[in-house]
Amino acid sequence: MGFIDDKEVEAPFVGDPMDRIDGRLKVTGTATYSAEYQLPEMAHAVLIGSTVAKGRIKSMDTKQAERAPGVLAVISHLNSPKVPGHINRDHPAEPPKIGQPLRVFYDDKIYFNDQPVAVVVADTLERARYAAGLIQVKYKEEPHQTDFNQNKQKADLPTQAKRNPKSGLADYTRGKEDAYATEAIKMEAEYVQPTEVHNPMELQAVIAHWEAPDRLTLYDKTQGVKSTQKTFAEEWNIPVENVKVVATFVGGAFGNALHNWPHETAAIIAAKKVNRPVKLMLTREQMFTMVGYRPHTWQKVGMSASADGQLTGITHEAIGQTSSYEEFTESTLQQSRMMYTCPNVTTRYRILPLDISTPIWMRGPGEATGAFALESALDEMAHQLKIDPLAFRLHNLPDKDPQNGKPWSTNYLRECMEMGAERIGWQERKMQPGSNREGEWLVGFGMGAGTFGANRRGAKAYAKLQPNGTILIQSATTDIGPGTGTAMVQIAADALGVQPDKIRFELGNSAFPDSPKQGGSSTINSVGSAVRAACLELKQKLQQLAAARSGTAFSAAKPEDISIADGSITLAGNRSASITYADLLKQNQGQDIEVLTTSEPGQEREKYSMYSFSVHFAKVHVHPVTGQVLVQKVVCCADAGTIINTKTAGNQMIGGAVGGIGMALVEDAVLDHRFGRYVTKDFASYHVPVHADIPPVEVAFVNKPDMIVDPIGTKGLGEIAIIGVAPAIANAVFNATGKRIRELPITPDKLV
Ligand code: MOS
Repeated sequence: MGFIDDKEVEAPFVGDPMDRIDGRLKVTGTATYSAEYQLPEMAHAVLIGSTVAKGRIKSMDTKQAERAPGVLAVISHLNSPKVPGHINRDHPAEPPKIGQPLRVFYDDKIYFNDQPVAVVVADTLERARYAAGLIQVKYKEEPHQTDFNQNKQKADLPTQAKRNPKSGLADYTRGKEDAYATEAIKMEAEYVQPTEVHNPMELQAVIAHWEAPDRLTLYDKTQGVKSTQKTFAEEWNIPVENVKVVATFVGGAFGNALHNWPHETAAIIAAKKVNRPVKLMLTREQMFTMVGYRPHTWQKVGMSASADGQLTGITHEAIGQTSSYEEFTESTLQQSRMMYTCPNVTTRYRILPLDISTPIWMRGPGEATGAFALESALDEMAHQLKIDPLAFRLHNLPDKDPQNGKPWSTNYLRECMEMGAERIGWQERKMQPGSNREGEWLVGFGMGAGTFGANRRGAKAYAKLQPNGTILIQSATTDIGPGTGTAMVQIAADALGVQPDKIRFELGNSAFPDSPKQGGSSTINSVGSAVRAACLELKQKLQQLAAARSGTAFSAAKPEDISIADGSITLAGNRSASITYADLLKQNQGQDIEVLTTSEPGQEREKYSMYSFSVHFAKVHVHPVTGQVLVQKVVCCADAGTIINTKTAGNQMIGGAVGGIGMALVEDAVLDHRFGRYVTKDFASYHVPVHADIPPVEVAFVNKPDMIVDPIGTKGLGEIAIIGVAPAIANAVFNATGKRIRELPITPDKLV
């Protein structure tokens, strides 16, 4: 509740489709991304990647490159400054243990094709690139394994699951193990999700600047300035406060900037070596090999149901690939354990190390892959039962979490399904596949649901009332594109009761108060709560200062009665009570009127099951002769609690739908196993949807607050925007054609 112009108004800015506060900066090119900072004496670095997938570097001839014009250094394992974090601290004489990020330039070992083996630093980018072409590397090749199918039998439990059988990655059985197998009505199928690559528009880039031998500044594309600060403080064994990380603008990431990668260390090494700031920006080709991807995943679902459509058994198994030197895992099977009522559920998750680089979370990590299998299997089961797949799902929605028996904090998946069905025109769907035509096109309808944990982590925010009556708020969160800053201003405007243009929100700098990295759909829940708490605390401070200075009217007031006006604070309902900012400052001994507030989740996390939910409906056309799939319409409905900004949240849902359409129809990173190298390494060969592939996407929100997850009622939106989209398309293709495609992407050759 806030007070605007002496009028009492209920949450007047939360829920608004407010324009992005940084929209103008972005569209006019004035927003500064990490590669765009200009530092005096800045040098440029170009990475050289290995051309074999496994083996050792036999020799490296850098003489010509070193003599090339403008070259300042050529750095490899032969001459790299030692990185303290690369040493095995327990046993300094031994090599570092496996199971940790790649140590760039540590030794001669090659773990994947295009692994950085050297970096050239020169006074200009062009000279660095030219010199990079002069370096001759010879390898002692060893046989590599990059073929998932040929190595599948080597898949194993993740270490975390071996150590802790209660881990979410460990094998799970509720009721009878593999119960579906002995049931009368059952299905069993295998599903394959190929490797996908994030490929945000902005390339990964970093400028490393050693301001002193133990003081490092990084302008870095990252989703976490604090996590990056910690990573490199540890890597270089310097105090955390000596590392400064700036990421004011991030041009998309989708998860690939949640991890720190070898190119960042390479730039820091280079800056150390040449004693100048060094800029390193990956090429688009390197974006396919050096900064993670959604791992190729094989899945198998067995499912059984009673004739009247009650689920009786689900067994869901998955194998995801990882690298040989680092274990990557994701929660591929989580939703099979909790989305639907089912007495007997078994899940088994394995990882398969291959001679490739490490995967990383990619939008809807795990769940987006898992939902393709689970939601396709539900469609297959419904078809076998001759039950409408929407009715089948509605029939099996649980009223509490079936995995642990806890109540949902909120769960409006049923509402999502009902509102989506109406908007797509589900009643036009024909039960018999291939029986619906519009002109020469086959018509199909499909749906897929999704869920993701409503995560919340501890976060801090700083708020200061400035002498001109504006409020400065700071948090070390980042904004990778969803419009975080805009949403924070809206939350603050309501908490303070002031107009948004009086608030300045600053982010993307490790000097600001601690915030988690922007990932796992948790920013609004975590940082939004901290911003709100800081604003309320600031008002309380104002009330206390006013009461101490000017007595009765303010002493009796509640903080929420304080109105922050131009030049003074006043009291709602008592306009004569007023005190100027100058007087308040005096009362505060001339100190800034500021607060630093921490907000953390509490006991409620133990008592409730907290998830966001979504459902996606698709209408497709499939050409019976060419196999072309044209998505006609997509409807996305989300239960994400309070929607802070219907415009930016709607944008986020549309973006998720586009990603899901890409996953369903075109995205596929193809390895040439002879070399263990990707052949798809540009947008000519790795396809993403273009405008002509994207139909109207209609977005609808349940928009009911979840006051258990956090005090602003939000649950998180980033992941559920994509989770369930791919199966909705695949199920629509089946409905149109009668062809069940279980290996993505659904390219025309699979349909003719
Ligand atoms: Mo997301 S995969 O949490 O950036």
